[in-house]
Amino acid sequence: MTIGTHPVSATRAAPASACAAVSSGAAFEIRPFDAPLGAEIVGLDLSEPLPAEDFARIHRAHLDHHVVVLRDQRITPGQQIAFSRRFGPLQIHVLHQFQLAGHPEILIVSNVLEDGKPIGLGDAGHFWHSDLSYKEKPSLGSLLHAQELPAEGGDTLFANMHLAWDTLPAHLKAAVEGRKAEHTYLAKYAELQQRSPWRPNLTPEQIAQVAPVLQPVVRTHPETGRRALFVSEHFTTRIAGLPEDESRDLLAQLFAHSVKPEHIYRHRWQEHDLLFWDNRSLLHLAAGCPDALRRVMYRTTIEGDLPF
Ligand code: SIN
Repeated sequence: MTIGTHPVSATRAAPASACAAVSSGAAFEIRPFDAPLGAEIVGLDLSEPLPAEDFARIHRAHLDHHVVVLRDQRITPGQQIAFSRRFGPLQIHVLHQFQLAGHPEILIVSNVLEDGKPIGLGDAGHFWHSDLSYKEKPSLGSLLHAQELPAEGGDTLFANMHLAWDTLPAHLKAAVEGRKAEHTYLAKYAELQQRSPWRPNLTPEQIAQVAPVLQPVVRTHPETGRRALFVSEHFTTRIAGLPEDESRDLLAQLFAHSVKPEHIYRHRWQEHDLLFWDNRSLLHLAAGCPDALRRVMYRTTIEGDLPF
């Protein structure tokens, strides 16, 4: 798949007349995108205290739109962590090499090398995935805050897995209903290691933290009750209980269906954007940027429930 030419929805907000769900509180506006998912929130300053009713609006928008783009957030790492924590406990990434100094809750996502050494995980999101689906309790959602953006590229794509489930052909629904699939952090690790300097050898302790898990192929969102396909090309290796060739063939069909252009929103980053996406509803992919251009992002990841 050529990411650069992916014919998907852009960042533009829908015209006000097309947005039945637009809400405008006293302090900030929520503007749904003209896309299969996503909304931007403008006029909010997360460096200020956030009253409970404003938090509730953001929470609702996150459930309704799956990605919210909080514009122009000039916040510190501590403020990103504090806001993220309001949604649940934070997860510490197994690649502790790329934690932000003094803030282990923040994973640096970056292609920058300093003195020949990576300062962050440069190939995070190279394959479609849902964050930490390889943990028993995968991530509820992730927040990614733009620190330095490249002049070209660096987009993030999101695929709506509720739509993927809703539109899945009946014979594929029947084939996967009630089944579980294995998710493994190490599935593509060796391949990524060969391609880039960002994948250190893992210690036995790190490997023990990412033992394979079984997850339902179709999950129910614990807050909205909507069903979503829950497999990804990065972490899902096989469907339990099926012969290897059948499982491979079925997964290939699910992967291809889930990231069809009509399910996708492509985010073109603006300075100080803070994105908050729902890993229970979406897959995402980093489109990448030219090596010579710096891209630095800070990610926090919120723990979710056991998928069912
Ligand atoms: C990620 O997969 O968390 C990183 C996404 C990005 O860098 O755009």
